[in-house]
Amino acid sequence: MAAATNFSQSPLISKTRTHSLNHYPFPKNTILPFKLSKSYSLKPLSLKAVISQQNPATTTTQETTQFKHCFTKSQDGFLYCENLKVQEIMESVERRPFYLYSKPQITRNVEAYKDALEGLSSIIGYAIKANNNLKILEHLRGLGCGAVLVSGNELRLALRAGFDPTRCIFNGNGKLLDDLVLAAQEGVFVNVDSEFDLENIVAAARIAGKKVNVLLRINPDVDPQVHPYVATGNKNSKFGIRNEKLQWFLDAVKAHPNELKLVGAHCHLGSTITKVDIFRDAAVLMVNYIDEIRSQGFEVDYLNIGGGLGIDYYHSGAILPTPRDLIDTVRELVLSRDLNLIIEPGRSLIANTCCLVNRVTGVKTNGTKNFVVIDGSMAELIRPSLYDAYQHIELVSPASPSAEVSTFDVVGPVCESADFLGKDRELSTPAKGAGLVVHDAGAYCMSMASTYNLKMRPPEYWVEEDGSVSKIRHGETFEDHLRFFEGL
Ligand code: LLP
Repeated sequence: MAAATNFSQSPLISKTRTHSLNHYPFPKNTILPFKLSKSYSLKPLSLKAVISQQNPATTTTQETTQFKHCFTKSQDGFLYCENLKVQEIMESVERRPFYLYSKPQITRNVEAYKDALEGLSSIIGYAIKANNNLKILEHLRGLGCGAVLVSGNELRLALRAGFDPTRCIFNGNGKLLDDLVLAAQEGVFVNVDSEFDLENIVAAARIAGKKVNVLLRINPDVDPQVHPYVATGNKNSKFGIRNEKLQWFLDAVKAHPNELKLVGAHCHLGSTITKVDIFRDAAVLMVNYIDEIRSQGFEVDYLNIGGGLGIDYYHSGAILPTPRDLIDTVRELVLSRDLNLIIEPGRSLIANTCCLVNRVTGVKTNGTKNFVVIDGSMAELIRPSLYDAYQHIELVSPASPSAEVSTFDVVGPVCESADFLGKDRELSTPAKGAGLVVHDAGAYCMSMASTYNLKMRPPEYWVEEDGSVSKIRHGETFEDHLRFFEGL
């Protein structure tokens, strides 16, 4: 059996009070040129809306459509978030890299899932690992989401955000006993990942004095056709139980009637999936397992299918599967077995709601390559360095007419060559201090940020429905770092 590895978590610094900006620089009802997305300069990029630029599954040609986004470049050459100029927001907040979200876009993304799920009994289990900002979690909870958790701290945070624990699912291949005890006490669904995990869940149930509702996480052995780092449902993955061991797990559940109640089956395929057929294939397998489990007298009525939809990281206007496409491929199967459906989206709910906003420190060349050096870096946003992931980059204000358009690597100040946010990007040569955004930074960016090179984690803001801007997380400071050494 593969050794279990615990999900590593960033230390949580609980500084998540909402602050309206002290000085709100925009008249409330300013009419700004909006809806001008036609001016978007779309390059004829092939569809590669996945984590890696090397994934062959994504190079299909697909019809393109005008890209619509909460961040739009208007005809005046300025980037807007909803109807606010990003440049003006930059000037009104702390002078350091920051994450900027659109709260209405978060709502719109959840509504798309809710509309798609109409007519089904379901839980939208938001995957907290994608973004664990407390204010965002409270908003998602208010919109009716449940939560998918992969650590005890994510469970504690979900409880703090007010999530109903009976709409939460605890996942993971290395869940710790203490965390399982908390899950048992709170009545959270727990997905069984292995033999030792089952033993720990039984032990947790005894300690908590509560029966745990469990689902079996079955490895469906389906290739999600994504970057290997985010594939979870193929045979070689460290996650889930081998399907040929299913009977062993059913017998083990039967042997613990006071500790375990089997309520369903779970599978997770991977992240950045761009073909819904993959979900359909997995759902067919899963309902067959559910039929088999039911035939042994278990009353299971939850199907938990994880696997996250990809998004248009390239801003190429590619048509990617929508939540409706996803749900419609499994709807009949779910209804045919009278199941409750649990889905676990992270990225597709939150990624496109946010940009990392940076300032240009300077421009340089090594003779063959040009570099735009910004204040943000791999510490704030590691996906390009870690996965060679593409995230779209643009300047927030029009460049001067005399600025030459060139190809640049966009890099940070961190002292290693892995520190890049984008390679070979065509940009107008920016002036010192110009604003530059990395798009689609809502998922797995802040939650994976570090303090490498003592670049402290950035503050976060969102644009509210009424057009005001609020701080939704304080930036970390040097003093926060020193606090870890106090009294030692
Ligand atoms: N549920 C489980 C059990 C998962 O393992 C994941 C993601 C999700 C839900 C959410 O999937 P999503 O809808 O976000 O695709 N750090 C990588 C992503 C790793 C995701 C792994 N599991 C990245 O930056 O792209």
